[in-house]
Amino acid sequence: MEDKLQQIQKSYQNKIASSKTLKELDEIFIALFGKNGEIDQQSSQFSTLPKDELKIVGPFFNQVKQKLEKAIDNRRQAIREETYNDLENETFDINEGEIKKRTGHIHPLTATDHNNFEVLNIPENHPARDLWDTLYINSELKTPNSKLLLRTHTSNSQIRALKNNKPPIRLMNIGRCFRYEQVDSRHEHTFEQFEIIYVDKGVSMANLQFLSEYFLKNIFGEDIKARLKPKYYPFVEPGVGVDGLCIFCKGAGCKVCGGIGWLELAGAGMIHPNVLKNGGIDPSIYSGIAWGFGPARMAMIKYGIEDIRLFNSGDLKFAEKF
Ligand code: PHE
Repeated sequence: MEDKLQQIQKSYQNKIASSKTLKELDEIFIALFGKNGEIDQQSSQFSTLPKDELKIVGPFFNQVKQKLEKAIDNRRQAIREETYNDLENETFDINEGEIKKRTGHIHPLTATDHNNFEVLNIPENHPARDLWDTLYINSELKTPNSKLLLRTHTSNSQIRALKNNKPPIRLMNIGRCFRYEQVDSRHEHTFEQFEIIYVDKGVSMANLQFLSEYFLKNIFGEDIKARLKPKYYPFVEPGVGVDGLCIFCKGAGCKVCGGIGWLELAGAGMIHPNVLKNGGIDPSIYSGIAWGFGPARMAMIKYGIEDIRLFNSGDLKFAEKF
């Protein structure tokens, strides 16, 4: 029996040493220590052995068993380390295969340079781009012929609205915008805007004046007045700022309106012929109005909120007031 044990030890030590995977090692373990395994088969013969022999074979059996167990443990540890090393040294091209197929797409909150500026009559390197303190994103994600940025306004929706619809067009679109802004009580880096677009035959500045006031009256009440003042936006011509009469001081000037008596609530204007063209609409037949409103500014007036930063502050005391 000692010979047999020695033979088992030798052959299994070789098998253990040459095993390459944990699975192989598990199989060896079962062949040795499992039910009816080599070890089991030997120990089941103990009862047939004379006492004297058992005294010698017993300890030897235990030695062989322990040696094999230890050999398996050591090899298991070694295989683990080898696998980790392989993983560390392994290089692969993440642009290959499955991963490439699953490349994501641009989140709707991020716009491209193209729609935000280019087709809104603001070409690259045009100084008008400086009107928007833009947050560009340094990204490997390349977008077709344009840079990646967080949209500075909802006016990028103008081009989609024009391309995807036939006049008459009347639509509104709301969304989050981002600017590299000097934050103060009336300016935030992250804010909402909504864009209203109206395109039809014969739309004019008179419509712009009337509709601005009509819209504001429905939100702030009959007492409000709208006034247009000239303002430059490259995608409208003429361009205006839409001011609302301050509902707190009725034009006398107070803290909320900064002593002016009026508050600027929107940028607006007649959609520039180049933008209509870029959207596939013939400017010799159609004209249109675009407004860009800031709902936070409007809420400030409606609820008498003195600091725009409160909206994104996460302050429950503020939020629970509404
Ligand atoms: N997009 C402009 C801004 O954010 C506002 C605007 C919208 C002006 C539509 C004109 C027409 O400043």
